Amino acid sequence: MKNLAGKAAIVTGAGRGIGRAIALELATQGAAVVVVDPGLGRGGEVTEDAPAAQVVGEIEARGGRAAAALQPVDDYAAAGAIVGQCVAAFGRVDVVVNCAGVLRERMIWNLGEDDWDTVIRVHLKGHYNMCHHAAKVMRGQRGGRLINFASDAWRGSVGQANYAAAKGGIVSLTRALARELGRYGVTANAICPIAATRMTMNQGVIDGMKRRLETGLITQERYGAIMAMPGPEFVAPMVAYLATDAAADVNGQIFHVEKGRVSIYSEPVEEKALLKAQDDGLFTVEELMAAVPGCLLVGHPNPAPAESETS
Ligand SMILES: NC(=O)c1ccc[n+]([C@@H]2O[C@H](COP(=O)([O-])OP(=O)(O)OC[C@H]3O[C@@H](n4cnc5c(N)ncnc54)[C@H](O)[C@@H]3O)[C@@H](O)[C@H]2O)c1
Repeated sequence: MKNLAGKAAIVTGAGRGIGRAIALELATQGAAVVVVDPGLGRGGEVTEDAPAAQVVGEIEARGGRAAAALQPVDDYAAAGAIVGQCVAAFGRVDVVVNCAGVLRERMIWNLGEDDWDTVIRVHLKGHYNMCHHAAKVMRGQRGGRLINFASDAWRGSVGQANYAAAKGGIVSLTRALARELGRYGVTANAICPIAATRMTMNQGVIDGMKRRLETGLITQERYGAIMAMPGPEFVAPMVAYLATDAAADVNGQIFHVEKGRVSIYSEPVEEKALLKAQDDGLFTVEELMAAVPGCLLVGHPNPAPAESETS
């Protein structure tokens, strides 16, 4: 069944990994797809690779319609040109899937300015660029789907402060866009995927996991689970679903998607409060010292307690 017949989609980072699987799935579902990928290395290095053309070839070989775009999404004008290309080639922009991504993993004290800027620029600014330009078209069309790629790392992950911050920004951006654009029939949702790609399962990762297993830092069971990470094709159907008319009322949600499992994040809400009515509501430091641990912090342990000097 072609659930996306007549629709035009842009998928960024579609030359490899999750983006490629999504481009193939959207095309299978009947959408015409702009396959965006300049063919960069895992950390954003320039390479000779031309994966976008290959994916366009795969789609066309299956009887679908596709066009390649080689511009980087972190360039504001280039992102505008990608949206313009989709309109020129396919007449409209119904779906934008923001899958382009790079990774530079370092602890904060080793995380250089370029590592910070590159990851924030490609992920967070890249999302802004594509959503901004597409929103102008979608608002005029009175309909559209923005499907963003966050990560479970948005909750805070070690050695990825730049990536976690970018992904947290994408969660907030998505929630804001949902509220700004919903009235125009445009939805914005985000996905936190798990899939074996060169981002998650390259030789460096495999070697690192082996070392962790050998030094007892992870169990054989955990090692086996990581090595058996499912492929990106398991993420694609959820994205295709969000792109359909059937998902017109799904808006502002953050999903986790992997093989055999789709889940939804809870709404971030204030959980409990300390209230002070006297003294114009001005807490003293001593009052907070006395009340915060026994009230607000119950159920909120320190995620990384200080090591003792002897441990
Ligand atoms: N694989 C996972 O388990 C996982 C987990 C959490 C989040 N994610 C997110 O999912 C998305 C896809 O990841 P993946 O694992 O498929 O990665 P991948 O490395 O396999 O593919 C990313 C693609 O993005 C392209 N790209 C990089 N910079 C670009 C730019 N500036 N403009 C356009 N394209 C660019 C690359 O050339 C590459 O082909 C990313 O946003 C990633 O952060 C992936």
